[in-house]
Amino acid sequence: MRHTSPSPITENLTLDPQDWSTMRRLAHQALDEMLDFQTDVRNRPVWREVPEASLDLMAQAAPRAGLGSEQVVADMLQHVVPYPSGHAHPRFWGWVCGTGTPIGMVADMLAAGVNASSGAFNDAPSRIEAQLIGWMRDLFDFPETTSGIVTSGGSVANMIGLAVGRDAIIGEPLRQRGLTGLSGTPVVYTSDQVHSSVDKAMMLLGLGTDNLRKVGTDDQYRIDLDALRAAIEADRRRGLRPLAIVGNAGTVNTGALDDLTGLAEIARHEGLWFHVDGAIGAIAAMSPKIRKKLRGMERADSLAFDFHKWLYVPYEAGCVLIRNSKLHRQSFSVAATYLETPPRGIAAQPDSTYLRGPQLSRGFKALKVWAQIREYGMDALGRIQEQNVAQVQYLSQLIQAEPRLEQSAPSPLNILCFRYLPEHLGADQTDAINYELLMRLQERGIAAPSSTRLNGQFVLRVANTNHRTRFEDFALLVAETVRLGREIEAGL
Ligand SMILES: Cc1ncc(COP(=O)(O)O)c(C=O)c1O
Repeated sequence: MRHTSPSPITENLTLDPQDWSTMRRLAHQALDEMLDFQTDVRNRPVWREVPEASLDLMAQAAPRAGLGSEQVVADMLQHVVPYPSGHAHPRFWGWVCGTGTPIGMVADMLAAGVNASSGAFNDAPSRIEAQLIGWMRDLFDFPETTSGIVTSGGSVANMIGLAVGRDAIIGEPLRQRGLTGLSGTPVVYTSDQVHSSVDKAMMLLGLGTDNLRKVGTDDQYRIDLDALRAAIEADRRRGLRPLAIVGNAGTVNTGALDDLTGLAEIARHEGLWFHVDGAIGAIAAMSPKIRKKLRGMERADSLAFDFHKWLYVPYEAGCVLIRNSKLHRQSFSVAATYLETPPRGIAAQPDSTYLRGPQLSRGFKALKVWAQIREYGMDALGRIQEQNVAQVQYLSQLIQAEPRLEQSAPSPLNILCFRYLPEHLGADQTDAINYELLMRLQERGIAAPSSTRLNGQFVLRVANTNHRTRFEDFALLVAETVRLGREIEAGL
């Protein structure tokens, strides 16, 4: 943009570059740098602290006068690109973070290039998203009546699923009156392993976290169905209003799979909404082998899942399917004169996504998912998911063969928790040593597991949603964990 004095504007201003050839060169350079980053990522540390010089830049005030594209691209390449959290690295296994793909990167650039907003218009982006939703409906064996929407991730997908469930079970007046005057407090049931996004949904939907019953789990961290039945019955006796059951298709701590068929039966018998949080496991239905473990998921009234976790799509992209499209639309439709749908023209989009979620304007996240599924095909993506499970089983064998390590819980999917067992120190110091071990693994850029607590114990946690990981990366993790454990013990 030309910088003008505050005099009246008499010329045509624009944000387009004055010199397109410079922008073209810079854009090509940025693309080359990103391809180099991806091909070379194995040779970098998994993670590095942001250095002082870059932190200084990040403390600067917004400039009144622009710095120009040359400077800004150079700054991004020097100060931002080298210091991500490390999700793209083959030894990043923390939290539940997908790796990203080159095709996803290209698709995101194209979506930004045409500045598409998805779902509200009579255009190709809306049709791509609709096609993707159709693919997912078929993948999960949902009926024709299903509708869905691409979300920012599992959190919003859980919130939308539970919003529709709340409205469907409580009924229409809720939309106008809110929860005031409702007879009987609504209660939602799930396991004590549920992800915090379900607590958050309870807060945001006005249901309250006190009304989320976290039912106990068995020795494999699966919800106890008898305890669930008893909790529902006890609440009914107290005059409360059971509303929904949230099943887990892969818990965040250990990847445990609830008995989803059992939960579907209880929900049907009790007249409750059945929501499945499949943010971790659901999309692995692309593998016929893993799919068998997810049985019962196809009976959900709403299913939340993620593309940016176990489908490796670059951030961010999740999804929710709602079995009954009418109920889905009822929860989110609002009338607005400036949003009327004509039969022709740009706004001729009768099934706009603003009628299926909280957002009006939305980015075109569906494109990268669509492109990635088309590039590789679902079979190949399912094979990589199977590879992730096989790699975690290999890690389990390595841990069993190593006396200084202990696996902390069963590992039915792609998540494994384990601990270093100190050789010379008491058990009371095990947590502190494992904490320090995790910090050293991360801070030295060796590998990035994360942690959790199981039965009060601090454990290291590997979630393998990484298509770049090789089997030998886990051999290295085991060797380095033992080496660092001994190093810490020696230094105490
Ligand atoms: C089981 C589960 N549900 C929901 C979420 C939230 O998903 P997102 O981070 O995509 O919002 C997560 C994230 O880790 C998760 O593990």
